[in-house]
Amino acid sequence: MATIDSTAPIAGRPSRLTANPFRRVFDDLAVEVRGRGKYPPGLSDFDWERTKQVARDPLPILLGGYEEFGPIFSMRFLHIRSIWMLGPEANHYVTVAHPENFHWRESSFGDLIPLLGDGLLTIDDDYHDRARAIMVPAFHREQVDAATAAMVGEAEAAIAALAPDTVVDVYAWMRALAMRIAMRALLGLDPDDAGKGALAAENFEVALGFFGIDFALRLVRGPGSPWRRLMSARAVLDRIVYEEIERRRAAPDSGRRDILSLLVEARGENGERFTDTEIRDQVMTLMFAGHDTSTSTVTFALYELAHHPDVLARLCAEQDRVLAGAPPTIDQLEKELPYLDMVVDEVLRLYPPAWIGPRRAVRDFEWGGHQVPQGAYVNYCSWASHRLPDVFPEPEAFVPERFTRERKAALPRGAYVPFGGGKRICLGKRFGLIEVKLVTTMLLQRLRADALPGRTMTVRQMPTLSPRGGLKMRLRNRA
Ligand code: HEM
Repeated sequence: MATIDSTAPIAGRPSRLTANPFRRVFDDLAVEVRGRGKYPPGLSDFDWERTKQVARDPLPILLGGYEEFGPIFSMRFLHIRSIWMLGPEANHYVTVAHPENFHWRESSFGDLIPLLGDGLLTIDDDYHDRARAIMVPAFHREQVDAATAAMVGEAEAAIAALAPDTVVDVYAWMRALAMRIAMRALLGLDPDDAGKGALAAENFEVALGFFGIDFALRLVRGPGSPWRRLMSARAVLDRIVYEEIERRRAAPDSGRRDILSLLVEARGENGERFTDTEIRDQVMTLMFAGHDTSTSTVTFALYELAHHPDVLARLCAEQDRVLAGAPPTIDQLEKELPYLDMVVDEVLRLYPPAWIGPRRAVRDFEWGGHQVPQGAYVNYCSWASHRLPDVFPEPEAFVPERFTRERKAALPRGAYVPFGGGKRICLGKRFGLIEVKLVTTMLLQRLRADALPGRTMTVRQMPTLSPRGGLKMRLRNRA
């Protein structure tokens, strides 16, 4: 929901966006007026009930829109008339076939700029591609392997702290663990260092909290407002991250494997390197993109396994056979636990944490027999696409067998997109998958997490999918 402020271009960097909410509303309405006649049919009137419903639980409305209008339709939310493109072909079009028709920065990703600055999620075109090329090596297999050691150490300690026969909020537990892993693997900080690691973790959580509150509250400014809390947290994070960059520049050490160190050393093809500000923005973006996503995936996996004892039994039999109680290696996680892969694939089908791919159309185009005007907000949506019965029969059912190697390969292209696709596919896909599979495996080697009787889980979608209010489960020894 951000617009370009064309009066303030910064040389070599993307244009600044206005943060003035009135200007943004005005610009959004102007875009709609200019594109009149070019929006696909849909639910285009202003409807307060629908707006509330979308804010609370958008999935039924999106699936209803698909049934009524087909794979492309308009829907008004607040003052914005956005366009939804759902289903395999739409996902493929947006992510793989024609990503050049879209920007991320001027979509709702732009709302993240006050915290993330100009990281991969909020930049486009050449500037994005150059930045991504510099970053890709930091996510190669050997670097993720190095991060795996930090994951094992942190997971061991976090699991040891869990007592059987207690009720635990597994979402909060995983969130704390994922934050510790991120501190070590991404920032190279000791999460027990109250001066830095713990302080950074605490402030990052405060900053993230801003993006989970209602849109209207995010506009409030002044003392005590969520915005002020975001700004204070950001100031603390900036200080810590810049100090860490400075420390690495002052005393380079090629033995350091954390992502921040790798980015300080990283060079592009032509020797170009990141400035301190660019490193800061990229690292903050990685923290943001990787934290909620892994947390929610582990939590949803535990929820589904608790409700499918047959799947749980098969999963545990596989891990006992392959691992015999030892922590998994990256090789084992990637090649030797195929049923674990199927379970995680199915969890990410039902609950893809980054459920919406927000975009702005940068030119007029036509798709599915309808026009889309330049400037329109366009979203693809993995969550709704993964629940289309013509693509995934009985879509509500948790059935890992959908993802045997053969059946996965037979899915239409674009049908399954929990990590997006194309040249901007999730940069942390391998990192995130290893983290999710490793923590789930190690937890199940020691404990079982049972659902609490009578408790049903509802899903919250902002900023990513997560169990609303956390997820309390009863732990017991696996024996
Ligand atoms: C289970 C875990 C994860 C899931 C499901 C996930 C999902 C996604 C999705 C769907 C996108 C594309 C969004 C779009 O097309 O609009 C994306 C992009 C991205 N993700 Fe992830 N992610 C996960 C973990 C991570 C981790 C651990 C990191 C970093 C440490 C990360 C970093 C990124 C970055 C930087 C991008 C933007 C890439 C670009 O624009 O070039 N993600 N992720």
